[in-house]
Amino acid sequence: MRKQIAAANWKMNLTVQQAGALTDELMNAGLQLGTDQEVILGVPFPYLSLVRGKLGDTPQFYVAAQNCHTQKSGAYTGEVSVDMLQSLEVSHVILGHSERREYFNESPKMLADKVDICLASGLKPVFCCGEPLAIRESGTENAYVEAQLRESLFHLGVEQLTGFIIAYEPIWAIGTGKTATNEQAQQMHAHIRQVMRNQYGEALANSISILYGGSVKAGNAAEIFAQPDVDGGLVGGASLVAVDFTAIIRGLKK
Ligand code: PGA
Repeated sequence: MRKQIAAANWKMNLTVQQAGALTDELMNAGLQLGTDQEVILGVPFPYLSLVRGKLGDTPQFYVAAQNCHTQKSGAYTGEVSVDMLQSLEVSHVILGHSERREYFNESPKMLADKVDICLASGLKPVFCCGEPLAIRESGTENAYVEAQLRESLFHLGVEQLTGFIIAYEPIWAIGTGKTATNEQAQQMHAHIRQVMRNQYGEALANSISILYGGSVKAGNAAEIFAQPDVDGGLVGGASLVAVDFTAIIRGLKK
């Protein structure tokens, strides 16, 4: 089975004390992950080292940054490079979140460059895509999301994309409490997998994990994750509360 993943996106939240306490609670929750299950904690840059240290060598638990720069080093005041992330033993990077696309003007080309430098350095992207409400209401969400994949991923080869992680996050569902229905999530995830199948073939399409994001909660995670093409979730608000996020982790497909 392809990887079933519960990824947390803490965004710009928590103090270092709160981040440490939350990580401790997650690690002490007695979670028993199945062989194909993973947990990824997407934490603010200042806490990467702390959280990474707390995870130690616990299998199937990983730390992600929420962004990286396109260059390996240099005069880019305030930025963080993949080499820095690697030196902290960070394994994943969330890329192309709609908040970064919108508030920080991250273009498809810039995201392609970020994907490239991550892959070249052995860091695994969690590549986000998803349509705004106006696109959903006009019924053109399939084409919109397909273009996002084409523009930032289609220059890559099959080897680079095998086991790749994509997060589908409809913007109208992020932080709004308005989750996509199970059917809407399944439909778009099947579409994303079909787009990848058309471009790269069956084996690749079946290797990628497609996570759903947008108001995933303890109460709705298991039913969304049960959809055949949904391989887990990228979770914002509910990942900040240990009891909620552990329930979400327990909702992953077995
Ligand atoms: P949310 O955020 O779970 O708070 O809706 C999801 C995300 O933006 O990754």
